[in-house]
Amino acid sequence: KRVGIIGVPFEKGQKKYGVSVAPAALRYAGLIEQLSEIDGLDIKDYGDIETPGIEEVKMENMAHLALVSACNKKLSARVSQVLRDDRVVVTIGGDHSIGVGTVDGHYQVNNDMILIWVDAHADINTNKTSDSGSVHGMPVALLVKEFSGYWPYLPTMDWQEPLFSIKSLGYIGLRSVDHYERLAIEKYKIPTFAMEDVEEHGIKKSIEHVLKKLDPENKRPIHVSFDIDALDALEAPSTGTPVRGGLSLREAINLMEIVYATGRLRAVDLVEINPALGNENDRKQTIEAGLCVLKAALGFSRRGTAPRGVNDL
Ligand code: ARG
Ligand code: MN
Ligand code: MN
Ligand code: MN
Repeated sequence: KRVGIIGVPFEKGQKKYGVSVAPAALRYAGLIEQLSEIDGLDIKDYGDIETPGIEEVKMENMAHLALVSACNKKLSARVSQVLRDDRVVVTIGGDHSIGVGTVDGHYQVNNDMILIWVDAHADINTNKTSDSGSVHGMPVALLVKEFSGYWPYLPTMDWQEPLFSIKSLGYIGLRSVDHYERLAIEKYKIPTFAMEDVEEHGIKKSIEHVLKKLDPENKRPIHVSFDIDALDALEAPSTGTPVRGGLSLREAINLMEIVYATGRLRAVDLVEINPALGNENDRKQTIEAGLCVLKAALGFSRRGTAPRGVNDL
């Protein structure tokens, strides 16, 4: 199994200092070494995406558009390259505005892809509906073609043509959804297992149901964009917009195990880890949780080498 790693030390999609340190912090914590321990993985590190010295443009209720755009343009090309090298692409953010680049780059290579957005938030605001003006709350709205008419002309974004369809999107873990975001989810009937639904059905049924809805024939490439704030704030405290009452780490691991088992996972994003928030222990816990999620996505087995199903229950 071939894997390519991309780091994106980018934090201008939101307001707090520190998310840009996450790629370095994860590497320092042993990202490559830990993934290498998974049987049969061939890992290549494609390094970090850097975008220095970009001149800003002014855009109403949308901060740092030019920077966000420049970073995502580079990232999109890199993601496409990794996929064309026949590797599963793992992108380490950075804030969630980098989802624009990862999904755009993936779509260029696999236009039949489906997208599972695992997050406390829906990230489907436009600059007209956002309360924050931060682009990390807008990536899904930038990506989907059904929303292109809701945006004004966005200077510097000409490279990005929203072609991905909202019909290929599903949500898991939501528990902080803004007014117009809810309207969008209802209008387009986006398969959504918010925390309340995960509560009712369990994580296994939840992810299985979303996958079945988006791809009844089990044949489409899968992209998982995992915001660390999908996890409960107790499991992953070092993040910029934490929300209580989220997924347990066990649920997140199981979700990833199930996606891995399809054999069709092509891209994973891990975003919004902010090592500058909280104390030493918070930081350590959050990074460890992120590593656990990635390992599960790439085939690490919690049962060790024991064969499956020996309990015969
Ligand atoms: N919905 C809020 C907003 O639009 C919060 C978004 C948080 N996004 C994230 N990727 N953590 O600003
Ligand atoms: Mn979030
Ligand atoms: Mn509001
Ligand atoms: Mn997010």
